[in-house]
Amino acid sequence: MLSEPPYGNGYELTRELKAESVKKSRIIGVGHYVPENIVTNADLEKVMNTTNEWIVERTGIEERRWFDPEKDTVSNMATKACKMALERAKLDVKEIDFIVFATITPDYFFPGAGVLLQRELGLQGIGALDIRNACSGFIYALSIADQFIKTGMYKNILVVGSEIQSSALDKSDEGRSSSVIFADGAGAAVLQATDEDRGVLSTHLHADGDFAEDLYVRDPGSSRKTRLSKELLDGKTFNLTMNGNTVFKHAVVRFSEVINEALEQNGYTKEDIDLLIPHQANLRISNFVQKQFKLPDEKVFNNIMHYGNTTAASIPIAMSEAWEKGKIKEGDLICLAAFGSGFTWASSLIRW
Ligand code: UT7
Repeated sequence: MLSEPPYGNGYELTRELKAESVKKSRIIGVGHYVPENIVTNADLEKVMNTTNEWIVERTGIEERRWFDPEKDTVSNMATKACKMALERAKLDVKEIDFIVFATITPDYFFPGAGVLLQRELGLQGIGALDIRNACSGFIYALSIADQFIKTGMYKNILVVGSEIQSSALDKSDEGRSSSVIFADGAGAAVLQATDEDRGVLSTHLHADGDFAEDLYVRDPGSSRKTRLSKELLDGKTFNLTMNGNTVFKHAVVRFSEVINEALEQNGYTKEDIDLLIPHQANLRISNFVQKQFKLPDEKVFNNIMHYGNTTAASIPIAMSEAWEKGKIKEGDLICLAAFGSGFTWASSLIRW
């Protein structure tokens, strides 16, 4: 027979005592930045065998932003998004204690983008953590920042998602099903510790590595004799590869599961949601989820029409735009949900 754990009641007591002093984390500012360069479906028609009709019908996307290599980097787009978030939070950058940076497209192979952002913001010395969970990256990052705040380790944390996907897209006919979807941009949130009973209520993180190769960029991988070779450069393994149908089928199931998980954990029902902000993967996926939860149009925020799928940046860009448009108000119950490469999926409920 298994004996009782030695920490028994003592552990419970410590937990109760700690619970009294546990902080919550609130989002006090959101910001975003997208490259100026607008790429319309008509522009894509000129470089690959596609049509505006196909792209709009299958994805909902009308235009997207692709970076300008002369101007935009993953870290400088993140810096702009963070500055906007800090300004809206009315918080001096020097008050930031920690950075959590979600990206799968860092400027360098290493170090990660977090330290570059930290340098650009003049925050040398504070910790900077990099998260590589693709489309779920922002919610993973939010979850980590939330834990650091709950434990009392940090008070103000920058949570960022920034991506440049357009440089890894196969823009030939062969890669058209993915290259019409993915795009570039950055979004950020300032998280602050609060004693108030609101903020991030919960986060829910999942992954299933069985599907790692259904959406991935294989190279430059480290587990071969040389990272770069003539043969590799001649191939397509540096490009984003996606098994779109498989991703789609899993996405619609996981989105619903993880939203339900968040609602159940907090004792809410779908009617309590004021705004659902799904990762902007494909408008058809968002519409499918909206239908499943029977949510009216005004309770689901989509901007994929203008920005495409910006991976880890999509949720914070959407959150920032929703806030700007007055669609997020004090006291609202906001639900974030994401699905993507890994596969990974995640959700969060936030009392704003
Ligand atoms: O961020 C999370 C990760 N990503 C996603 O969530 C994306 C999930 N998947 C999808 O959104 C969809 O699977 C796609 C938009 C990628 C593809 O849409 P689909 O409705 O699943 O199309 P399909 O791949 O089954 O292709 C249907 C047809 C094919 O032609 P045939 O074989 O029926 O003659 C494709 O060759 O559409 C063709 N096609 C295109 N035609 C014009 C594929 N891409 C294009 C294109 N333009 N860009």
